[in-house]
Amino acid sequence: MRDMKGQKTAWVTGASSGLGLHTAMALRDDGWQVIAGARSFSREESNQDGIIRLGLDVTSEESVREFCRKAAEIALPDAVVQCAGLLVLGSCEETATEEFRRVIDTNYLGMVRMNREVLPLMRKRGGGKIVLFSSINGLMGIPFQSAYTASKHAIEGYAECLMLETAPFGIQVMLVEPGDHRSGSEKYRPHAAAMSDGSPYTEAYASATAQIHYDETNGSDPDQLGRKIAKLLDRKRIPFRKRIASTDQHLAVYIHRFLGARINAAVLRRYYIRGKK
Ligand SMILES: NC(=O)c1ccc[n+]([C@@H]2O[C@H](COP(=O)([O-])OP(=O)(O)OC[C@H]3O[C@@H](n4cnc5c(N)ncnc54)[C@H](OP(=O)(O)O)[C@@H]3O)[C@@H](O)[C@H]2O)c1
Repeated sequence: MRDMKGQKTAWVTGASSGLGLHTAMALRDDGWQVIAGARSFSREESNQDGIIRLGLDVTSEESVREFCRKAAEIALPDAVVQCAGLLVLGSCEETATEEFRRVIDTNYLGMVRMNREVLPLMRKRGGGKIVLFSSINGLMGIPFQSAYTASKHAIEGYAECLMLETAPFGIQVMLVEPGDHRSGSEKYRPHAAAMSDGSPYTEAYASATAQIHYDETNGSDPDQLGRKIAKLLDRKRIPFRKRIASTDQHLAVYIHRFLGARINAAVLRRYYIRGKK
């Protein structure tokens, strides 16, 4: 639904850096009014770059409600793109319950909170598009990323339910499954506090985290991902799943799905744990 000037509105969470920021910029460049949320936008700022920024902490019901209230006063959303996320690196054994909780609370429950505010608005106006950032980790486990992987698997299951329930109201849901992109900030990838030199996983952990770091630093272009999403959101109908990844990562998903657990584990162990970079 366009406003009087024919402009559509997108709300974008996690838009202070990385893929959220690139998606916000691409939407703005395509003529959307963009209302962006992140914790670091502590006060209301309408920057010269044409993106309206509002403070948002997706782990707080109150902050989510306040963000949606303020954003709705500016313009109701035609699309809500949810990118807020973080990753804690660590072994299953040494990642603390609190660290699991923080990741799930941000990545998965953050979306649950946003959607509970957004859905009534979209239902009333007869539709809208909800874009949920999952990951390749939403499709397969990667060593030393268990909290993140679990949160992204939760998003995948949740999105299927959301899509089935909301389609009759004209609401479309899209899961974006990015592979590695050169965007993630190190500050959103802390190591679990208990991972130390004395860890029984030290060697494997060092090898896997070096590989993870290498893959992200040499990953795909975040700007292109932003532009792909903007292009998709311009369509009348959007796909339910959109994987945006390198050929290798498409292949990894294929191996995981079709070649069985033993082959998949051998490939992943070789890549992350014995691989040298
Ligand atoms: N980069 C990749 O290769 C990659 C691959 C697959 C999937 N993804 C997914 O893409 C999304 C963006 O990741 P990224 O790596 O590009 O970005 P990033 O640079 O790691 O940025 C994360 C964003 O989330 C926001 N955020 C974190 N906690 C928040 C909270 N409690 N409330 C509101 N905002 C919060 C951060 O802003 P503030 O700190 O200002 O709040 C920041 O804008 C994530 O969902 C990630 O899982 C990324």
